Amino acid sequence: MFAILLGAPGAGKGTQAQLLMKKYGIPQISTGDMLRSEVAQGTALGKQLHEIMKRGDLVPDALIMQIVEKRLQAPDCFNGFILDGFPRTIPQAEELSKFLKHKMHIDITVVDISVQDDVIIDRLANRRVCGTCKKVYSLTVNPPIVDGKCDRCDGELKHRADDQVETIKNRLNVYHDNTAPLIRFYRSKKLLHRVNGLQKVDDVFREVEKCFNMNKNAKEGYTTGRAVVEAPMN
Ligand code: AP5
Repeated sequence: MFAILLGAPGAGKGTQAQLLMKKYGIPQISTGDMLRSEVAQGTALGKQLHEIMKRGDLVPDALIMQIVEKRLQAPDCFNGFILDGFPRTIPQAEELSKFLKHKMHIDITVVDISVQDDVIIDRLANRRVCGTCKKVYSLTVNPPIVDGKCDRCDGELKHRADDQVETIKNRLNVYHDNTAPLIRFYRSKKLLHRVNGLQKVDDVFREVEKCFNMNKNAKEGYTTGRAVVEAPMN
């Protein structure tokens, strides 16, 4: 399973990536998590990243490509990976295509999880993330059993620095200007599947899985080509 999860901030990419990782045992490659880990180390680079991420702007493409290409060459990525939060710009997507062509020769499934902006602001204001194992919670949809503590590892739950309303609004603008064009990019390559992210988490997961099965069936010759699935948006 080689996957790209597209979607606005808070669409549910991380939530779905964690479910896929748990069920299929393939790594979630979250560029946001990798960048936050650099910030937490307090390096000179981490300090620069912190300023960019606090504003909700994008980190430069060249730096992201360096980080991702190194990560994708690790042995745990040979049998599959789930890209969460990458690519985020057309140049990143073009570089990724080149990299995969030269290094891996794999067939990738792109799933766009669609959620409208007003729902996103509410979701991110209520999101909490475990500082240790990165499990994602929602105070409204899947709250922890013990307030402030992770059910899985007892780690402390955090409200991300960029989940403040003004920053969320900037992240959404950045998404519409830079990342949403990837929908057309992957559609033109007949790789795009779309899923309605407003459904319950388990229902979104079922639809995401269907997209992979559809690609698999197409490869095995059950259909005449790879389907472009445009699930109806409610
Ligand atoms: P990143 O960490 O990637 O953030 P993001 O893309 O903005 O996405 P989020 O992690 O906020 O949301 P998500 O879609 O994963 O939603 P989640 O599952 O958590 O990036 C952070 C920053 O790093 C960027 O702003 C940028 O500065 C930098 N960066 C990262 N990658 C970069 C790149 N490639 N290039 C340049 N810069 C980069 O869900 C959200 C909430 O909703 C949770 O509380 C969850 O429980 C809840 N939820 C999930 N699904 C549902 C559902 N179906 N129904 C109800 N609630 C749900």
